[in-house]
Amino acid sequence: MLDFAIDLGRRAGALLRDGLSRQRTVELKSAFDLVTDMDRASEDLIVSAITAEFPDHAILAEESGAIGEADLTWLIDPLDGTNNYAHGFPYFCVSLGLWRGQTPLLGVIYDPMLDELFSAQAGGGARCNGLPIHVSNTATLGAALISTGFPYNYATTPENNLREFDHIQARCQGVRRGGAAALDLAYVALGRLDAHWELRLKPWDTGAAALLVLEAGGRLSDWRGGPWHPWADRLIASNGRIHDELVQALS
Ligand code: IPD
Ligand code: CA
Ligand code: CA
Repeated sequence: MLDFAIDLGRRAGALLRDGLSRQRTVELKSAFDLVTDMDRASEDLIVSAITAEFPDHAILAEESGAIGEADLTWLIDPLDGTNNYAHGFPYFCVSLGLWRGQTPLLGVIYDPMLDELFSAQAGGGARCNGLPIHVSNTATLGAALISTGFPYNYATTPENNLREFDHIQARCQGVRRGGAAALDLAYVALGRLDAHWELRLKPWDTGAAALLVLEAGGRLSDWRGGPWHPWADRLIASNGRIHDELVQALS
């Protein structure tokens, strides 16, 4: 199944890469939440491949919602970083995760612009382009490079992460806002970032990345340091070493 997911991630990513320079059709789901024809094309490719190969598996995909009910569920983001993509900003990815209930089994994230394929299998470690990867060794928040994101409704809610952004920015070497949470989390697994925090992520954003971070030796929690799951409202993913300090700073 991992080989299947890797091949599928690569095929969907190639489709997105080829479509980037073409005219895109953009629709608004809400004021700043976009969907393009390429989100749908990528999702169609992924969903039809999974349905053909594993007809008894369930799927939860961003644009189609829930398809079927089963013990094994694929969490699919056909294009994470849609806003970037719609503007031609080359930071986006495809994300495919497979879960059994609350347990992640495999995760694949593909960045077609850098041709970086991140993969993880439960108990089998995390890899980038086939080579083992590990989270960073950064030991303090003050020495860390961190990423975050903002919910699409940030203009209309006080829980918009701006206060937290201001607070953390003053206590670390920098906060990045990449605009593709799945790829940000893959960067935590690879050690390019020391941590990522965000609120209101959806299961398809984290469905592959969660396992990547864990298998790369990192840690996941909610903002209080309690257990995290894909439906949780708040996530901290880190290299483990700076986790408690980040929990403390966010609280
Ligand atoms: C979004 C991106 C963004 C994050 C948003 C997500 P989409 O996903 O991951 O970085 O801040 O919360 O919804 O809409 O580009 O698939
Ligand atoms: Ca997403
Ligand atoms: Ca998406």
